[in-house]
Amino acid sequence: MSTAFTAGEQHWQARLGKLRDVVRQELVARQLERELPAPPVRIIDCGCGQGTQALRLARRGYDVTGVDASADLLARFERDLAAEPAEVRGRVRAERDMIETYAERAGLSRFPAVLCHGVLMCADDPEPVLRALAALTAPGGVVSLLVRNGDALAMRPGLLGDWAACAAAFGWPAGRPRPGGHRVVRRPGVHGRGGRFGRAAAGPGGPAGLRGASRAHRPVPAGGGAAAPDRAAAGERNGLMRLTVLGGCGAWPGAGQACSGYLVEHGRFRLLIDPGYATLPRLLLTVADATEVDAVLVSHGHPDHCADLNPLLRARVFRDDPALVPLPVYAPAGALGPVLALDRPGALDDAIALREFTPGDRLTVGPFGVRSWPLPHFMPNAGLRLEAGGRSLAYTGDTGPSPLLTELADGADVYLAEATYPWRVPPDSERYLSSGRLAGAVAREAGVGRLLLTHLQPGTEPAEAVRAAAGSFPGEIAVASAGLVAEAGPRGE
Ligand SMILES: C[S@@+](CC[C@H](N)C(=O)[O-])C[C@H]1O[C@@H](n2cnc3c(N)ncnc32)[C@H](O)[C@@H]1O
Repeated sequence: MSTAFTAGEQHWQARLGKLRDVVRQELVARQLERELPAPPVRIIDCGCGQGTQALRLARRGYDVTGVDASADLLARFERDLAAEPAEVRGRVRAERDMIETYAERAGLSRFPAVLCHGVLMCADDPEPVLRALAALTAPGGVVSLLVRNGDALAMRPGLLGDWAACAAAFGWPAGRPRPGGHRVVRRPGVHGRGGRFGRAAAGPGGPAGLRGASRAHRPVPAGGGAAAPDRAAAGERNGLMRLTVLGGCGAWPGAGQACSGYLVEHGRFRLLIDPGYATLPRLLLTVADATEVDAVLVSHGHPDHCADLNPLLRARVFRDDPALVPLPVYAPAGALGPVLALDRPGALDDAIALREFTPGDRLTVGPFGVRSWPLPHFMPNAGLRLEAGGRSLAYTGDTGPSPLLTELADGADVYLAEATYPWRVPPDSERYLSSGRLAGAVAREAGVGRLLLTHLQPGTEPAEAVRAAAGSFPGEIAVASAGLVAEAGPRGE
């Protein structure tokens, strides 16, 4: 008698009595204690296996029938049953049968409580078992189902920052586009706590990434340009603001990881915030072409926030496209001098329309209303708050503690906060850098929707940063890493 479970039975047996099994069985038992009618009542455990729950219930005074297809597991059940006192043994029956056929037995009276734990997810088609369970249940009876949530398997590698294993747990082959190619799929909290952050497709063949088919090259004049209004109008219709993380490493990039870089879209307008080290390769996995960015906004001039502006501009200017128009780039005054000086004087002039501002200024960038705040850092740094379609994203850039942070983050849908260290910033930097703990405290005070921690010092354990922030902020928290998507849409999305 074999079932879809048979292939995994050895594995299951090897884990019986181990911590994970003990915790699982204990949680199930506690839940049953709350939900089942008081004993004495007849209970059937369909797919009872080694009989852990059946025995516990019999000890509590229930009459229990266990049904299972596995001779080995039923043997364990019988062995453990034999060690019980006679009165418990007298309340238990173990039957070797398929759940589906047991339910068809003539003359079987229905049960006021039916259990089926760890069975349904093994079956290719759970329907016959579900039908059998329904047939076995007395009118008004209780049915207890325990079914693995496949997506939850991504939680552990996600907390460890092992994104390849995390993606694999979702059934996405690492480095390849997901089936269907290109849609952003919002998934439960891939890193940290809560559930509305997701991941974007990336990788050759899947760039089209965020929106499917790549757009034809349509140059966009400074400030949004000719193509921008219709894209913005589309965005206003769907009311969505979408943040895609290109990188979140603080200071220097990690292996295969980029420094700060965030693509923010509203409608068809694409705003690149902080093109830090190594963000251009990530960007090009997300959009089809360097010309698909409509504007750039830079928080401050440290190279982990703007170094890849150079290759971005090169990718636009060296293509010799007469239709290309300069890319509007907004940055605090003087911030981009060093990165623009990487090429010979004038080489990039045709590629950029530099719009310098003073932190504290208000700007309009395409469909985004942008407010900025002067926040304390080793050089002038602008905290940035973007609003469009009634949604908001607040971004700290790099900053030490400041009362302005609460103003910046006030009620924002997404708060993207620098958290170079999890708990404490070393004394020599404490006026100019932040921690996960501080980010959590600001997020709580400002009443933000979601907290996205970024700029973690390479080597920082992401789960530690989340823990530090979670001490104050009770809401959803994630750590920024390439491909993570946060959507702020109309309420409820
Ligand atoms: C993962 S084990 C769970 C055992 C037990 N319910 C528990 O939670 O500890 C699944 C059990 O369901 C049994 N099983 C799976 N499909 C079955 C079917 N169609 N009919 C009878 N038993 C089945 C397997 O033999 C195995 O003992």
